[in-house]
Amino acid sequence: MRKTSVLLAGSLVAVGAVLAFSGPGIAEMAKGGVLEKGVEGRSDKWAEKYPNQYNSWKQTSENDSITDMIAKKPQLAILWAGYGFAKDYNAPRGHFYALQSNVNSLRTGAPVGPDTGPMPTACWTCKSPDVPRIMERDGELEYFTGKWAKYGNEIVNSIGCADCHSSQTGELQISRPYLTKGLEAIGVDTKKVDSEDMRTLACAQCHVEYYFKKTEWTDKDGNKKTAGVVTLPWDNGLSAEAMEKYYDDINFSDWTHGISKTPMLKAQHPGYEIYSTGIHAKSGVSCADCHMPSKKEGDETFSDHHIASPLATDDIVCVGCHDQDAEVIKAVVEEKLERKEQLMEIAMDNLAKAHLEAGKAWEVGATEDEMKDILTDIRHAQWKWDYSIASHGSFFHAPEETLRLLAVANETAQQARLKLIPVLAKHGAAGFAAPDFSTKEKAQALAGVNLAKLVAEKEQFKATLAKEWEKQAIEKGVLSPDTRKGMSDNSSYSK
Ligand code: HEC
Ligand code: HEC
Ligand code: HEC
Ligand code: HEC
Repeated sequence: MRKTSVLLAGSLVAVGAVLAFSGPGIAEMAKGGVLEKGVEGRSDKWAEKYPNQYNSWKQTSENDSITDMIAKKPQLAILWAGYGFAKDYNAPRGHFYALQSNVNSLRTGAPVGPDTGPMPTACWTCKSPDVPRIMERDGELEYFTGKWAKYGNEIVNSIGCADCHSSQTGELQISRPYLTKGLEAIGVDTKKVDSEDMRTLACAQCHVEYYFKKTEWTDKDGNKKTAGVVTLPWDNGLSAEAMEKYYDDINFSDWTHGISKTPMLKAQHPGYEIYSTGIHAKSGVSCADCHMPSKKEGDETFSDHHIASPLATDDIVCVGCHDQDAEVIKAVVEEKLERKEQLMEIAMDNLAKAHLEAGKAWEVGATEDEMKDILTDIRHAQWKWDYSIASHGSFFHAPEETLRLLAVANETAQQARLKLIPVLAKHGAAGFAAPDFSTKEKAQALAGVNLAKLVAEKEQFKATLAKEWEKQAIEKGVLSPDTRKGMSDNSSYSK
């Protein structure tokens, strides 16, 4: 076998040729931006100048379906007990719905005014081009201060043009300052980032791991405030182990687990990080190469802004670089998914049991000292499981790294369970078997989620304050009246 003969690679078409035809951008961008200053969050305001990009962007509205992941994998409710994700967690859908998914999620709760509700402003950060608009208007620290509901009538457009493009020049740009800081922390000179890099970094603005860093500051009137600033934990590197060390060193936890009392980490979606370990990244294939390939309509060639699964179309982009039949390529990807699913199920099962057994150990009188190591194992195991799968698509972007992390997660969860055996025995609970968590109902009951109450409160919020936000945003002129006309309103709880 040749040195480079990984699967499919033997039949690779010259990559350079493909990359060359994927960048029609420069000439067209000469048409420039849409505003002299400020940020234009309404994508329809870009439509006249850029109809092809706008129309294809709008196709992200085609995937509006909800896959309730807690119904599909009830273990998740145990893994996230005591945290918002145990309430509601769905598979990703089109960018057009990102904002609606956020508003509809039971995680963002049912605020009744600007200072109420469970979540901070930071929860809007990856959903809307109104985020850079508000950051520019109010300042970054003010944006990151206060409750989510504070900006309900300002952050109203879903992911669109101004998330990735400058409203002045039309060029791709990083609109989120935390990415610039994160890149600088790993030694990237962000002034030297070129348009090829931007075909990946545009996505890394959101498809990354982050946490909310508590930051004290004083506003211009001298008021002392605390912001929760989105921060990328990249100082030690991008791997799961490097970020785990970062969080351990600052003693950070996202929440204390409701059953095992473990100080937990929630991985967000380290998509860029895990992709970086894969062979496509290492061969210079960018996110946009696969998710935004060139498209021809009439005489015009443009980047297809219908960001979705690259396998959802008949003429899959892969065949531009690989010369197998589409069916063969799809089957290869499907097999990668199945491998990941198998290891993921085993890891989740062990993690859920570790939490429940640890919960039992506390109940029968285990001491902090007896539990310390066990909880560290649970923390680290769940972090690696979450890092490996939370970014979606990792099974394909970086199959080896995904499977490696799932194997380590599983082994570490097993270690926790082995250590729990003598603790349970010592306190008279030898042979304890974790209760059944095989349905969403059973798992959420164990996790202490009162779904009926959460849904009733949410429906009330949607019928009142959420409607008010939309009306006010239209009055302020930051939301076009037609944007949401005829839009579906799917959620995990809608009938
Ligand atoms: C998620 C990021 C993202 C969003 C959202 C986005 N674009 Fe783009 N856009 C890109 C990328 C990546 C390219 C490719 C640039 C390159 O290769 O130089 C691109 C290219 C372009 C180009 C250059 C010509 C072409 O087609 O390659 C135009 C014009 C453009 N986008 C307009 C828009 C408009 C209008 C919207 C909103 C309706 C929009 N974009 C939304 C990322 C985005
Ligand atoms: C401003 C933040 C943001 C940016 C920038 C962004 N994404 Fe996303 N992306 C999201 C969010 C949030 C979702 C989930 C939306 C939902 O489920 O409602 C998502 C969903 C997706 C999906 C799933 C779509 C589907 O139909 O299943 C893909 C694929 C994707 N993004 C790829 C990309 C690529 C490629 C880029 C860069 C060209 C990019 N994203 C840039 C935030 C972003
Ligand atoms: C070599 C092609 C390729 C590259 C490069 C690539 N992706 Fe993907 N991506 C895929 C494929 C294939 C899938 C799996 C689609 C499926 O399961 O239907 C996928 C899945 C995804 C998903 C999950 C979609 C879902 O609905 O579950 C997201 C999000 C995503 N990619 C974002 C990105 C981002 C961000 C980058 C760059 C950091 C990137 N991709 C780079 C091909 C690629
Ligand atoms: C821009 C060119 C390009 C595109 C587009 C592309 N690939 Fe690749 N692919 C590569 C390169 C380069 C390699 C690495 C081969 C090597 O180094 O020998 C690779 C390797 C692979 C491998 C073997 C490594 C692994 O992870 O198992 C698979 C499978 C693969 N690609 C599938 C796909 C699929 C599926 C798509 C479409 C979603 C796709 N590729 C799109 C260039 C591309």
